[in-house]
Amino acid sequence: MPTTLLNSELPGLNLIHRGKVRDVFALSADELLIVATDRLSAFDVVLPDPIPGKGEMLTQISNFWFDKTAQVMPNHLTHKSVASVLPHGVDAALYARRSVISKRLKPVPVEAIARGYLIGSGWKDYQASGKLCGITLAAGLRQAEQLPEPIFTPSSKAAVGDHDENISFDSVVATIGAELAEQVRTATLALYRYAAAFALERGIIIADTKFEFGTDVDGKLYVMDEMLTPDSSRFWPAEQYQIGISPPSYDKQFVRDYLETLGWNKQAPGPKLPTPVITGTAAKYAEALQRLAQIQLD
Ligand SMILES: Nc1ncnc2c1ncn2[C@@H]1O[C@H](COP(=O)(O)OP(=O)(O)OP(=O)(O)O)[C@@H](O)[C@H]1O
Ligand SMILES: [Mg+2]
Repeated sequence: MPTTLLNSELPGLNLIHRGKVRDVFALSADELLIVATDRLSAFDVVLPDPIPGKGEMLTQISNFWFDKTAQVMPNHLTHKSVASVLPHGVDAALYARRSVISKRLKPVPVEAIARGYLIGSGWKDYQASGKLCGITLAAGLRQAEQLPEPIFTPSSKAAVGDHDENISFDSVVATIGAELAEQVRTATLALYRYAAAFALERGIIIADTKFEFGTDVDGKLYVMDEMLTPDSSRFWPAEQYQIGISPPSYDKQFVRDYLETLGWNKQAPGPKLPTPVITGTAAKYAEALQRLAQIQLD
């Protein structure tokens, strides 16, 4: 059975960040306990209902990719046992599959996005300007069309409640320096190419994805946070892909479509979800986990 967790409660541990999805605890100066809860955010608002098992599925998908791509890029996982750091009396089963112990890194303040297809804000920007993050693309591309080459389209990390904004590579250089900016771009594209080819063999197109990177005290770069999940990526079932239309996806489109029917103003607090939308959303995450990683959570 999947477990359900809206907010972690780990008395005695030092909670340093409650994100939209993850609760982050500092274990020491160089290690974190990161707990993926079952919170669901849509349009950047955290909804009141948990999606049972979602955090477990996200963590399993990320761990699968961290493992697969370890040769391409070092990652933040320590592979230490979560059970050993939980306070006494806490139900270990509730945390075991949704948590990891990671290296505590200094976040690179850029959302590192790779796009292989023209969709979402990329499609909007292209229609308006023929460009994407300052990169000029060929004329006449259609919605959802595959780009000739995957491209790096960074965005700024917005403060809570704000939306991220596409930025140019030059402004990444201005923020973090040329050397680190190059490293982040190279790693982003290498990870995307590797994962996109792998996923396609399993019938999934990764249209785009967002990575987060961090550096250790020696300045070494790691990929951190989550990786190639339905929350951080657009996954399309390959058999339903068609240029010119926005394909159905494994991300939060299912919930977003429901929310769009409500006339909700997309400001907090978010509306409660009917049971079929909750179970339907959980099923989407389970399907992505099954298809990509061939993991079935019991
Ligand atoms: N290894 C790490 N070292 C330091 N910080 C990390 C590490 N891994 C993840 N983080 C940070 O932990 C937080 C996880 O929170 P969460 O994923 O809920 O995101 P968020 O900040 O609400 O934003 P978003 O929804 O855009 O991902 C993020 O701020 C992320 O940058
Ligand atoms: Mg995050």
